Parts: sequence; structure tokens; C-alpha cells
Amino acid sequence: MRILKNLLDKNKNWAEKVKTRDPEFFLNLSRQQHPQYLWIGCSDSRVPANEIVDMLPGEIFVHRNIANLVVHTDLNCLSVIQYAVEVLKVKHIIVCGHYGCGGILAAMDNKEHGLIDNWLRNISDIHRYYREHIEARKTEKEKADFLCELNVIEQVANVCHTTIVQNAWKSGQQLSVHGWIYSIEDGILKDLDVCTTSLDEISKTHRVK
Ligand code: CO
Repeated sequence: MRILKNLLDKNKNWAEKVKTRDPEFFLNLSRQQHPQYLWIGCSDSRVPANEIVDMLPGEIFVHRNIANLVVHTDLNCLSVIQYAVEVLKVKHIIVCGHYGCGGILAAMDNKEHGLIDNWLRNISDIHRYYREHIEARKTEKEKADFLCELNVIEQVANVCHTTIVQNAWKSGQQLSVHGWIYSIEDGILKDLDVCTTSLDEISKTHRVK
């Protein structure tokens, strides 16, 4: 099938619906974007950024990859963070994971998955670091859920450790980095209470002078 007619038809209907509600919507958006939020989430089709926080196009700048990782050598993710912080001047960066994340489960199963194993190693490192705490959980589901949460917490730290975010704080820019986790089972987001808003709150080993 060379043309996905069903999707193109859906798109036309959607654009019409939006224009009926607000005739100037696309015209206004085409001029510029002013999102207040950068969302770093998982590629999982069940965790669509805009929809789960009920936001319209233009309100949230989004980067998604498998297991919502912020890797210090990932030029893609870092470029998104740089643009969001330095050009768009977002006020909030939200790292959002989700329970039942396939990336986390794959990192825990000790099987070979091909190329993606190199990406998943970042999660295995977190698993190794917190192994005792994770193993203390009773069921496999509880262990996986806990690693999903720990992964978000570590990625929040990784965002804060970038020179991009540290330089923004040093220059007095208002910027908060949040860690959230989403439940596919009930559609509810949970704040993991690791919000970081200044240089003083990050590890001295990663602080840039
Ligand atoms: Co996932």
C-alpha cells in the first residue's frame, strides 16, 4: 500500500475539527511556537505526550526514545534539550517514564536483542547500581516497576548534569526538571518528587564551575 489513505483522511477531519473550534488556530501556530514544557518520554505508542496531559499542538516540545533515556553522548536528545532551553526558553523539562516499559523489561531479561542491547546497557547500568534495593522487592512486577521509577530519577539527574541546563541556571534562567511516571493501566501520572531547580541541588561531582 503506497498511500495510507485512512490516515490522510483522519488528518483532514482532524484539521477541520480544530479549525471549526478556532479558525485562527493554525495561522497563529504557524507564526511561532512558545511551549513552556519540554517532554522527554518513551516512544511507546501508549504514552502520547500531548494527549495524556491534554495539551494542544504548540504547548509542549517533545523528544521520545526507547525508555526515555538521556544519554550524554546522544546528540539527538542533547540537541533537543539545547534548543528547548536556549531558544524556546522552556520553563520545565519533564522526564516521563511509564510502568511496564518494554525497554526496561528487555534490559532486565538477560537475553540478546541485537543492536538495541547497546542502548539498553544504559538501563542495565542503573540496575547494577541499585541491584540490592531492586532485589528487595517481592515480585518481578514490583522489581520492574521500581527500575522504571529509578530510570526516570537517573534521567532527571542526567538532564541536570548537562552543561546546557547548568549554564541556564548559572545565567539565572528559571528552569525546573521534573521526573514523572505514567501508568498505562489507569492513565494516571505520578510525580516522583525529584524536581530540581538549581545548581545547589545537583551532585558536586557533576557541577560545572
Ligand atoms: Co517504554
